[in-house]
Amino acid sequence: MTANLAAILYLVAGVCFIMALRGLSSPTSARGGNLFGIAGMVIAVGTTLAQPSVQDYLYIIIGIVAGGAIGTVIALRIKMTAMPQLVAAFHSLVGLAAVLVAGAALYSPELFGIAEADGGIRLISRIEMSVGVIIGAITFTGSLVAFAKLQELVGGAPLVFPLQLSFNLIVALVVIGLGVYFCFGQSEAVFWIMTALALLFGVLMIVRIGGADMPVVISMLNSYSGWAAAGIGFTLENTVLIIVGALVGSSGAILSYIMCRAMNRSFISVIMGGFGGVAEAGVSASQKSHKPGSADDGSFIMSNAGSVIIVPGYGLAVAQAQHVLREMADLLKKEGVTVRYAVHPVAGRMPGHMNVLLAEANVPYEDVFELDDINSEFATTDVAFVIGANDVVNPLAKTDPQCPIAGMPILDVEQAKTVLFVKRSLSPGYAGIDNPVFYRDNTMMLFGDAKKMVEGIVKALQ
Ligand code: TAP
Repeated sequence: MTANLAAILYLVAGVCFIMALRGLSSPTSARGGNLFGIAGMVIAVGTTLAQPSVQDYLYIIIGIVAGGAIGTVIALRIKMTAMPQLVAAFHSLVGLAAVLVAGAALYSPELFGIAEADGGIRLISRIEMSVGVIIGAITFTGSLVAFAKLQELVGGAPLVFPLQLSFNLIVALVVIGLGVYFCFGQSEAVFWIMTALALLFGVLMIVRIGGADMPVVISMLNSYSGWAAAGIGFTLENTVLIIVGALVGSSGAILSYIMCRAMNRSFISVIMGGFGGVAEAGVSASQKSHKPGSADDGSFIMSNAGSVIIVPGYGLAVAQAQHVLREMADLLKKEGVTVRYAVHPVAGRMPGHMNVLLAEANVPYEDVFELDDINSEFATTDVAFVIGANDVVNPLAKTDPQCPIAGMPILDVEQAKTVLFVKRSLSPGYAGIDNPVFYRDNTMMLFGDAKKMVEGIVKALQ
């Protein structure tokens, strides 16, 4: 394949990836977006394999078959609720790849076309390698720590020790200093010390971030992995890798920003960590007075309502109750009840978590509303049906400046005439704080697994 043809095909692949991102920005066009992504990837990989510099296909085929098989098994088995840790695990591999490519380039610069006449590495390539290996190493260990926290292999609470921020800052400055040194005085020892310290920095940075902030961290690491890929792209002189890396890097950064804004937290405060530890001690929730109810009660109240707004949360995903929930909504609609869904931007454990679940259950898109579009409707709604959600409907965010979710915009369910809460107990949500809506006069607690409770309501409605 000629260099010109390869350049054109890489450009086509780059356009496909941009179209993929555009498609994925809305549930209605997401399927098309995925197809564009697949097409772009096929073109990019095919073009790379057809390069004259690729002379031996054996190891590549072994890699593709082994990686493809492992990826297929994981994709088929993974639960939606475990998606964040899977993404973290995948990011770690991108980081590791960046480190390995830079390491290989260090020992065989001539194979990468980055050698000077005296056998040394070109200055510009040394700069690219330093940046790529630092970001890659941080992404690798940072993603592994995020994976371990989300998989509950280690505790989710932030690990904070005295003078930690100063220590982290010193490590970061030493890494940058070594990077600059490597650029101007190529040295294998400096390269590997820099890599080891960047690996350490990845651990130090993520251990002090609590479980509740992990989705933001995952998205941030997603961004890092993109920049690491772009770094590899420069080393390998591969245009499409640079384009894709930049797309992933910038979209991950934008996503982190959107999540922080939805939680009313600054990105810096997330990185500084310390949020989302263990639940605070206080008056035991079960000692406060609340009104428990049954599936029959829920069915009676909703079938006599004029309008119901359903608020899904993390518990819906755990229970996989989305299909039976849609069945319930269909039955209510048949009885003349107006049913809408209110989706909070950080409901669940990953961006778009609830939208994906509702789309999976074929909930019509026109019934699903975002926070800003539906919040004013609760005041004129008969029933707010909160299923597996907690933090995203906790009014303490508005009234208690000390609580961990202070300032986070929430869905004002307490303004509805009646609030029905489906959850298993009075336990707090991810942020570890009690919810005063449980104890209000207009609230009824429907205790039980979300799927079983909604199945009971459906039976009663039928
Ligand atoms: P949470 O506040 O975590 O509450 C989920 C509730 O679901 C829990 O209180 C739990 O109560 C209940 N539950 C668990 N399993 C259940 C089951 N099988 N059946 C019924 N109920 C079940 O969820 P949320 O309201 O969706 O809020 C999301 C949280 O994650 C927020 O704090 C948000 O800031 C954080 N977060 C999310 C994101 C993204 S991108 N989504 C990003 C960063 C942070 P029981 O144990 O009593 O059942």
